[in-house]
Amino acid sequence: MDHWIERAEKVIERCREIACFTDEPGHITRTFLSPATREVHAYLRRWMEELGLAVRVDAAGNLRGLRAGLNPHDPILYLGSHIDTVPHAGAFDGVLGVVMAIALVEALENRGVRFGIEVLAFSEEEGVRFGVPFLGSRALAGTAAELLSLADAQGLTVADAVREFGLDPARLPEAAMSGSVLGYLEFHIEQGPVLESLDLPLGIVESIAGQSRFEMVFEGRANHAGTTPVALRRDALAGAAEWISRVEREACTTPDLRATVGSLDVQPGASNVIPGRVCATLDVRHTSDEVRHRAITTLLDSATQVAERRGLEVTWAQRLDQPATPMHPTMIAAMERAVARAGFPVHRMASGAGHDAMIMAAKCPAAMLFVRSPGGLSHHPEETVLPEDVAAALAAGFRFLEEVEALGA
Ligand code: HGY
Ligand code: MN
Ligand code: MN
Repeated sequence: MDHWIERAEKVIERCREIACFTDEPGHITRTFLSPATREVHAYLRRWMEELGLAVRVDAAGNLRGLRAGLNPHDPILYLGSHIDTVPHAGAFDGVLGVVMAIALVEALENRGVRFGIEVLAFSEEEGVRFGVPFLGSRALAGTAAELLSLADAQGLTVADAVREFGLDPARLPEAAMSGSVLGYLEFHIEQGPVLESLDLPLGIVESIAGQSRFEMVFEGRANHAGTTPVALRRDALAGAAEWISRVEREACTTPDLRATVGSLDVQPGASNVIPGRVCATLDVRHTSDEVRHRAITTLLDSATQVAERRGLEVTWAQRLDQPATPMHPTMIAAMERAVARAGFPVHRMASGAGHDAMIMAAKCPAAMLFVRSPGGLSHHPEETVLPEDVAAALAAGFRFLEEVEALGA
């Protein structure tokens, strides 16, 4: 086990080095194809090329490193995760999965395996810049072309961002998965409290919760804060605030529902002006698509009722309707054998967080292995991992490669 601890400590050191590549000095913030992405690419490319991988960047900005199998036509196993982050992120969400993938390839040394391994560093999973997540993995799934015209807050489209990065959006179809694919494995921090509460290092993901994202706009009328009586106001922020408390109440009263208003933009945004326009995001998740859709209907109806009562207009745009996604039973079973052979407790669990694995699962057998999140903290600068848990995941991951090879025998 000690060599896995050494490798794990190196993985954590590398994640912290990559955390220094940021668009926002003093914080960890990397959005789709931002300048900081180039620095991450250079760092990972150097390491992958030292290991003899064939490295390229596809038209979606995914950095990809291929280790050939024993034979040129051997099937491919994808190992990967994302390198973009939320604003003011931690050092491990996404990046850990990419660094662990390369560390596993490094651990293979010169050992030939009867499948190729392609490491995937997805360019965008969080959906921060364009409001729609999974741009990178959707390129491999062949469903990203419809996103090229999406515009960011500056009016730049995904296609503009791709061209600005020096890539050609017309070549997006070449990024799609092709040939014989064994499957996809993603290592990821749990980002929640379950493994810590059970004192377990690893969790094998059975399914990933479905996820809906909306952009809501409440329109009222800006007016003077000092002269306008409350009865004559059409206060967009007061209306949005009433609705937001309704969102929270829906989450409190619906078992296992997660409903969040994560960002709020208030216009014109002065203390002496009644807010005339508010943009709010809505993020709703549940392992049951039926419960999730029912909650969405309730919350959109509530927004309409609040607006009518307050003389506001409310409109919305749906940015995501991602079904709940089961991981592949054969891959789950292979990972269970691998975790057990590595000497760790086997624990299956659901994922409340969304992951690229839910996009890849539409096209190939997908699996995820969670690493405990101390404090259950994520999407936060103090997000961390324990070296012994990363070592456990690497040891299990190595045996997973053996299990996959045995499956293909
Ligand atoms: O939002 C999520 O679930 C993931 O961190 N992108
Ligand atoms: Mn995340
Ligand atoms: Mn993530």
